[in-house]
Amino acid sequence: MKLLIKNGTLVLRSGVKKADVLLNGGKIEKIATDIKADCKTIDASGKHVFPGLIDMHVHLREPGYEGKEDILSGSQAAVAGGFTQVCCMPNTNPVCDNAVVVSYIKYRQQQVNLCRINPIGAITKGEEGKAMADIGAMKEAGAVAISDDGKSVMDSNIMRLAMEYAHGFNLKCLCHCEDINLVDGGVVNEGYNSTLTGLKGSLRAAEDIMIARDIALAESLDIPVHICHVSTYSGVELIRSAKSRGVKVTAETCPHYFILTDDIITSFDTSTKVNPPVREAKDRDAIIEGLKDGTLDCIVTDHAPHALKDKQVEYNLAAFGMSGIETSFPLSYTYLVKTGRLTLPELAERMSYNPAKVLGLEGGEIKEGEVGDLTIIDLNEKYVIDSNKFLSKGKNTPFNGFEVCGKVQYTIVGGDIKYKA
Ligand code: DOR
Ligand code: ZN
Ligand code: ZN
Repeated sequence: MKLLIKNGTLVLRSGVKKADVLLNGGKIEKIATDIKADCKTIDASGKHVFPGLIDMHVHLREPGYEGKEDILSGSQAAVAGGFTQVCCMPNTNPVCDNAVVVSYIKYRQQQVNLCRINPIGAITKGEEGKAMADIGAMKEAGAVAISDDGKSVMDSNIMRLAMEYAHGFNLKCLCHCEDINLVDGGVVNEGYNSTLTGLKGSLRAAEDIMIARDIALAESLDIPVHICHVSTYSGVELIRSAKSRGVKVTAETCPHYFILTDDIITSFDTSTKVNPPVREAKDRDAIIEGLKDGTLDCIVTDHAPHALKDKQVEYNLAAFGMSGIETSFPLSYTYLVKTGRLTLPELAERMSYNPAKVLGLEGGEIKEGEVGDLTIIDLNEKYVIDSNKFLSKGKNTPFNGFEVCGKVQYTIVGGDIKYKA
């Protein structure tokens, strides 16, 4: 019932502070120095205690694509990555566009019982962009947002109607921004490296046009929207400018967009293939700026595990996506905090507090009375990323061989230890 964490350095909203944390009945009961309790105790000396990390954009693939990932393997990977809570996208088979699939995912979460899993329902039936999904019924069954992720809702009127309807249920649209006509089969960023490799490029404009449209809808209707996986410097600028006008827009990006550039595609390694594509240095730099100034609220993984057979094919035929849930924290810490771009509380805000706020989830903060979701990390432990060691079925990462700092030691959900290094 009780769990005491002694001598850790807590990453609080107000700054970092050494203190003990007592968890009881699934909640944070007490934060103080020198707590004494007769219960299971973790010695966290020399370690940092973060609010449980929340990944609001993952693909768990179940039901239907269990060869790529399932709710068990995805949950094991999530807690190994330090995540106490994830939100899973609906592009499964069948698509999560009705209450039955939402309930199925919730049921499987209870069976697996590792991290919390919040289903995201589809905006349109079958993610086909034509008819609205059963949004109200999905909310009642436990969906926390709606998205046609993997695709944009190309018909702006359907998007408008879905936004208005979903808003009535207090659900936000999470927008995958991609004008599919303009993408026209592109597989990488359009630029010098697409010309060099002969791989078909996709313009920044394909993403920016849809970001601009969804912001325009949010502004005209005065309804909040959330922009998924921003990859362009110009997209960051659109969101910054909208926020400055008071538009209710929030946004996320992923480690691959603030670390990599499209120089990596010259290897023709299909683990570099992702949608939207990694772009150029000025995009990467603008995304870091956007994370610093709060234009980009959240760091997510867009964890997109694929089977070997989906990736060990010609670049043009390979599936889009990267398996990211086990590398997100160390990459973010190494490339954003160790480089002096973000402080630890700012990193915790992007990886826990803000995702909770954007979707109205519990958790996100270490404070008395909050749920007992915590991640204990050794920030000094250095290691080399090796996808053979992933618990995820998806070994598809472009980060193999990268040296990172920050190893998850314990992942605690509702006061229970769900992962121990
Ligand atoms: O790279 C991606 N993979 N982008 C998406 O939008 C979908 C995702 C997937 O489901 O594999
Ligand atoms: Zn997407
Ligand atoms: Zn996605």
